[in-house]
Amino acid sequence: MSAPLVTSPPVVMAPRADGFEVVWGVSRLSRGWLEWRAADGASGRFTADPFGLVPQGDSVLRVRAAGLAPGTTLRVRAVTEAVYAPRERNASAWKAVRTLDAASETAHFAVWNDTHERDDTVRALHAATPAVDVLIWNGDLCNDWHDPSAFLSTVLNPAGLDISAGRPLALVMGNHDVRGPWAHRLTDYVATPEGRPFTAFRIGPVACVVLHTGEDKPDDHPTFAGRVAFEPLRAEQAAWLRNVTAQPAFRDAPYRIVFCHIPLRWIDEPPVDYDAGGYDQVSLVSRAAWHEALAVWGAQVIVSGHTHEPVWLAPTADLPYGQLVSGGPETDAAADEAAAWIEGAASPDELVLTMRDLAGAVLHEVRITPADSEGVNLSARPLVSQE
Ligand SMILES: [Fe+2]
Repeated sequence: MSAPLVTSPPVVMAPRADGFEVVWGVSRLSRGWLEWRAADGASGRFTADPFGLVPQGDSVLRVRAAGLAPGTTLRVRAVTEAVYAPRERNASAWKAVRTLDAASETAHFAVWNDTHERDDTVRALHAATPAVDVLIWNGDLCNDWHDPSAFLSTVLNPAGLDISAGRPLALVMGNHDVRGPWAHRLTDYVATPEGRPFTAFRIGPVACVVLHTGEDKPDDHPTFAGRVAFEPLRAEQAAWLRNVTAQPAFRDAPYRIVFCHIPLRWIDEPPVDYDAGGYDQVSLVSRAAWHEALAVWGAQVIVSGHTHEPVWLAPTADLPYGQLVSGGPETDAAADEAAAWIEGAASPDELVLTMRDLAGAVLHEVRITPADSEGVNLSARPLVSQE
């Protein structure tokens, strides 16, 4: 008996205004494509990789859908065919996918973070989270990549669930996601709009910027064994950030949010002794690289994880963007490092970010009014629910 040909649901990632990418696991060399159907009866296939081959692989297949109009709803299914005899064939269930639409008056999104391969936590988050335009998975999916089989059980099929059903995934890189001997292979299993760990997209009136804060220690720290190069990546993102936020779709957006794993602000920011086991709770190197561009743009809120401690820091004169940090990986809402998730709902009048624990209690509620030519208007009403 051979293993099942297909090892995960078709995971919808990297939603864009003109398409998305679907990634799924396979157990042996296969080729695959996406079939689509529209409500008006039209149908077709997405069936070419960038070099003109039908997408192929021995552990993962990925198909990029492109050329669609903003706000298009399709049903898609992934079809997989083994390359060698017996040429087993598998068609997934149909699932609905909707492309992003900057012209929409509303937006609805959710944020998870720091799930750290905890199936119980993913199961609870999956049950609590509604269908949304985008599910942002804000880093530390894993506990370092020690085994390549973990990409399947962590990213594509966590807890055996189809977490992208009704919620296309935008993945944000955390410091654990870049660790371990297999970390360099994560890019095979995740799709991002431009193939980079930073991007920008509009969900209706909300301009979203995704940034990669990298590691929580300097690149030359001995624990990294020469494997990371985040200093140049932060500098590249600084230049990119200045350019992308000058584009009208982002420059003029009513709401302006940044998602990055390590916060850019924290409740205290003392010097860190990296030689004595210290690490960054707050990425001051990222803030140094990006602050000017964020301030010029009028970024309203930075949404992060990493500290496993829910916190809201209101904007200040020096740091004119709020910082919202969500919870950790624990399922028990009364425990330290308890999990939380954030629901974002935007209308023409306001964007509301609501952070809840897994018992449903509201930990923070941040209400943001649209940015205008006068600058940023922001008011926050943090609700306290600690023991
Ligand atoms: Fe974490």
